[in-house]
Amino acid sequence: MFQEFHRGRRLRTTATLRELVRETEIRPQDLIQPYFAAQGDPEAMNPISSMPGQYQYGLDKLVERVEMAVKLGLKALMLFGIPETKDEVGTQAYARDGIVQQATRRIKERFPDVVVVADTCLCEYTSHGHCGLVKEGRVLNDPTLELLAKTAVSQARAGADVIAPSDMMDGRVAAIRTALDQAGLTETPIMSYAVKYASAFYGPFREAAESAPKFGDRKTYQMDPANGREGLREAEADYAEGADMLMVKPALPYLDVLTRLKDRYDCPLAAYHVSGEYSMIKAAASNGWIDENAVVLESLTAIKRAGADLILTYFAEDVLRLMNG
Ligand code: PBG
Repeated sequence: MFQEFHRGRRLRTTATLRELVRETEIRPQDLIQPYFAAQGDPEAMNPISSMPGQYQYGLDKLVERVEMAVKLGLKALMLFGIPETKDEVGTQAYARDGIVQQATRRIKERFPDVVVVADTCLCEYTSHGHCGLVKEGRVLNDPTLELLAKTAVSQARAGADVIAPSDMMDGRVAAIRTALDQAGLTETPIMSYAVKYASAFYGPFREAAESAPKFGDRKTYQMDPANGREGLREAEADYAEGADMLMVKPALPYLDVLTRLKDRYDCPLAAYHVSGEYSMIKAAASNGWIDENAVVLESLTAIKRAGADLILTYFAEDVLRLMNG
């Protein structure tokens, strides 16, 4: 009698049928694993206490780890650097032998096909921990651009395949694009952290990268979590300045922003499933409160469904392991 009824359950009756109508799938090539490369002892592998399973790697250990991940099917990784010395102007960010530059050379030498994405920022290299030059307690915009551009060029010269500025200074995509082009690096794409919020979810990362600001916070450059429309403006600016890919960060709390970007831009979109998102899952799972693998797959699938083409996640290795059975 109710034959005209839509019965959603019809297509859910068997696992195969569900598979047939599944709209979203995570592919190995969608995942980018972040790594922390530390200067000093090449054999170091220091656990990051707030991110169980993540480490600061010495150069040799990093290459070993990447080898393992590549065997699992990893196609792309992002590098953060932990320098031995920091100063006011973040010299180690753009030093020829800076840690990210060295790590990039080592990885590209061994695994030429792996896509190395270099995080381009100053906060890991400045003594004050801010993402730009500081004068009288203020983070300066335009003078920072020059240093970011220098950093990008030196990372690309070391072999980085993608430059990913995460500083949130205004005009940095244009400054970096111009500098790369002038250096003859016209083929190096920019993945900009276009919509990056001043998020409490970065807490564990700042322990991992030893990059917490020594005074104040990042709210004068990173965005207010309350603002969605402003995110569209940020994305528009980076797109117009020549960004090849746009990123939203963090991921799960900002899926609405991701979807709005997807509707507007035809370029590839990335989402950064950040440290705090990782650590929350790890903590709940280690208490036996949630099923880690199921929650990870559900989270990453949701991020893709919302519009991400690429996902930066500390779970990349784990997911590849799951895919390999
Ligand atoms: C550097 C940077 C940060 C992250 C990526 N690049 C930290 C910050 O902005 O304080 C966070 C990544 C994460 O939490 O996993 N600017």
